[in-house]
Amino acid sequence: MALSTSSAITLNINGEKHTLPVDHRTTLLDALRDRLDLTGTKKGCDHGQCGACTVLLDGSRAVSCLQLAVAAEGRVITTIEGVAQGEELHPVQQAFLDLDGYQCGYCTPGQICSAIAVIEEHAAGWPSAATADIRPEAGVPPLTADEIRERMSGNLCRCGAYVSIVQAVARAAEAEAAQSPPTTGRLSGPDDGAGTEDVEMTV
Ligand code: FES
Ligand code: FES
Repeated sequence: MALSTSSAITLNINGEKHTLPVDHRTTLLDALRDRLDLTGTKKGCDHGQCGACTVLLDGSRAVSCLQLAVAAEGRVITTIEGVAQGEELHPVQQAFLDLDGYQCGYCTPGQICSAIAVIEEHAAGWPSAATADIRPEAGVPPLTADEIRERMSGNLCRCGAYVSIVQAVARAAEAEAAQSPPTTGRLSGPDDGAGTEDVEMTV
């Protein structure tokens, strides 16, 4: 008996459930773009190397070109179409807009989805390869430009808008930190002119 190569799956995307039949080899990226018309998520390399297809899976960033749609069933999927609250842009979207964190815009949805998760990872105290002191007692590392560049290094921008992208991520992190009362750690503005002030960081 031949095994079936397709299944009906239900994906939870941006708070809505979508049921669709998919070939088991279909990537989440192709399901989003070609089957559900959620074309905000972009296809760049289709090999997990550029970050253009980044979405949030259960709040963590993931490159959707390396994720099978069938494996995303049961996960909470957030795409760029779902990060705003109605007419109110997400603070990261607003910062990219205000600071020109893009040129052609092709990489921008992935950059924004990554940045949203980066800010949460940093606030939760996750170290990066750029973190000098990774001991837990050292607290949250300062979110310097080097930290932002390292944490966003999976997202390439062929237009080279990196300077503005770093500024936008710093601005958004600062805005989000200001909304929560500080407890531990410090969030410092990038040390190469990204233009943020020191802000106490909440973890
Ligand atoms: S399209 Fe997925 S990482 Fe490039
Ligand atoms: S803004 Fe054009 S690729 Fe990044």
